[in-house]
Amino acid sequence: MTAIERKESKVRIRPMEPEDIDNVLAIDRKISGVRRAVTYTDLITGDLGGVLDLSFIAEVDGQIAGFILARRVYVGEPVAEVGLIQILGVDPDYWHQGIATKLVNALLDACQAKKLNTVRIMITERDSQLQPFFAHMGFKRGQLIDYTKTL
Ligand SMILES: CC(C)(COP(=O)(O)OP(=O)(O)OC[C@H]1O[C@@H](n2cnc3c(N)ncnc32)[C@H](O)[C@@H]1OP(=O)(O)O)[C@@H](O)C(=O)NCCC(=O)NCCS
Repeated sequence: MTAIERKESKVRIRPMEPEDIDNVLAIDRKISGVRRAVTYTDLITGDLGGVLDLSFIAEVDGQIAGFILARRVYVGEPVAEVGLIQILGVDPDYWHQGIATKLVNALLDACQAKKLNTVRIMITERDSQLQPFFAHMGFKRGQLIDYTKTL
């Protein structure tokens, strides 16, 4: 068994609980600091209640190392109910250990169990991390583009 396989075997994926919010925010801040990206704090704090059935936590030795926040939404053309990934975050100290892969696979299983046949994430065109990761996971780029009006 290689060192990476040993590390992976300690990863535990479990459903997200309301008590996880502080740890989720801490990871979000850590990622934002590293990447100087937008912070998603408002999204997490504003809407945790409705998303817990499709959201998961990754623990390594009891420490929270990553999370995936997703919800059911009706979108697209034709309109269909899909599982929409809102945030995927892995603590930079735990990158490249297969944690994001396990989180996404847990979500895919949960969606399949709920008869949601499509899972989607919106990713900015400039994102050089999430795009290759989701391509690696078998996600294909779709046809939707966003039109935004700022008020
Ligand atoms: C992208 C991210 C989720 C990957 O997490 P991870 O746990 O390191 O991913 P995994 O170990 O499961 O990666 C599996 C595979 O995906 C691909 N991959 C992962 N990160 C990648 C990257 N930055 N660039 C290219 N490919 C990548 C690789 O093929 C990798 O396999 P390998 O490690 O054997 O090369 C993590 O880097 C992250 O959280 N980034 C910040 C995301 C973010 O900004 N979230 C907030 C907005 S939604």
